[in-house]
Amino acid sequence: MSKFAIMGHGVVGSGTAELFLMNKELIKERQGIDLELGYILDIRDFPDLPYSDKFTKDINDILNDDEVTVVAEVMGGVNPAFEFVTKCLERGKSVCTSNKELVAKKGAELLKTAKEHNCNFMFEASTGGAIPVLRPMHTCLAANEITAVAGILNGTTNFILTKMIDENMAFDEALKTAQELGYAEKDPTADIEGHDACRKICILASLAYGKHVYPDWVHTEGITKLTSEDAAYASENGYAIKLIGSVEKNGDKVIPLVAPRFVPSSCQLYSVSDVFNAIMVYGNGFDEVMFYGKGAGKLPTASAVMGDVIDCAKKHGTDMSQFWEDSADNSFIADYTTEVSARYFRMSGADKSQIKDVFGDVRFITRKGAPDDETAFITHADEYGIIEEKASRLTGTILGSVRIY
Ligand code: HSE
Repeated sequence: MSKFAIMGHGVVGSGTAELFLMNKELIKERQGIDLELGYILDIRDFPDLPYSDKFTKDINDILNDDEVTVVAEVMGGVNPAFEFVTKCLERGKSVCTSNKELVAKKGAELLKTAKEHNCNFMFEASTGGAIPVLRPMHTCLAANEITAVAGILNGTTNFILTKMIDENMAFDEALKTAQELGYAEKDPTADIEGHDACRKICILASLAYGKHVYPDWVHTEGITKLTSEDAAYASENGYAIKLIGSVEKNGDKVIPLVAPRFVPSSCQLYSVSDVFNAIMVYGNGFDEVMFYGKGAGKLPTASAVMGDVIDCAKKHGTDMSQFWEDSADNSFIADYTTEVSARYFRMSGADKSQIKDVFGDVRFITRKGAPDDETAFITHADEYGIIEEKASRLTGTILGSVRIY
């Protein structure tokens, strides 16, 4: 028998208990491990639940029970999660978390603590919800150099963008629906301003390149500047708009970035809709793979938490080697203005011949019902900074500008 505990009984915590109790026998039969839920830590009371006897308000109950070998941390936020996770690891208890803020800000430190105490700090649920991506990247793709990772990492914004483009739904209404479905963060700013996707690309980048990439080092743009006019240009010209978190090698540096992009219909990310996430990983041996699934929600996220819990319980006392070093500084991060992509522009009062003189052979695009003085075009790929400098030479007003995937 192997005991585990859950810290936090919110959306993901209650989902973790529910999924485990639903499939307990199956887990025993298939995985050969007799898991028991020992404790659930929460400051609130839940007297009506069938597992109400599991609740405690005191973390010492978990820390002092030597039978507990694994703890699921699903509280969210850095405090007190960091303190509680550290204490568990220092007692040799592996911790499995869905808390991307904790991993993105404190991952290197917690991985070090886990290593020092011969246990594991796992966080599959922190990135891509239900999607197995971190462990496959670390194990199945281990023979390769990862050249780039790029994906739709936030379910809430993908849900909003899908509703805006496919159903012409207003931004606020789509956000409200996402919140009601339990996809959004407590403060939806983290979703719509790209901070949530930023944390996830930090985790992917840190794992892919072995050094901690901190959120402050990542240029991050959200989706709040996108307009229905930009959405119309995208959908009427064979593109979807997606918030893309990416990191790519650039010589001996990496460029992490979060920004909305026009994704062409030829790209597999184009048809990733609603709350689904997808992550493309590029490498020098396997070329490219895509990981796809539900990126948010109660049971999908719980599924990834429980996958880690089961693995940690089975391999108690084994170093699973998913690790990265802390970074002394950000000298390995290249400036985001050196990232190369094509760009969509929407302008008023522009001069088409001047646009061609400055950018060369751009592609002009149209939308139904556009005012006469509106011009939209797509440039060739170039460094962001170079395109910015060229755009600053144009007469007229830039109303919208989005990178192309
Ligand atoms: N708010 C997050 C999202 C939850 O929408 O993707 C899952 O991390």
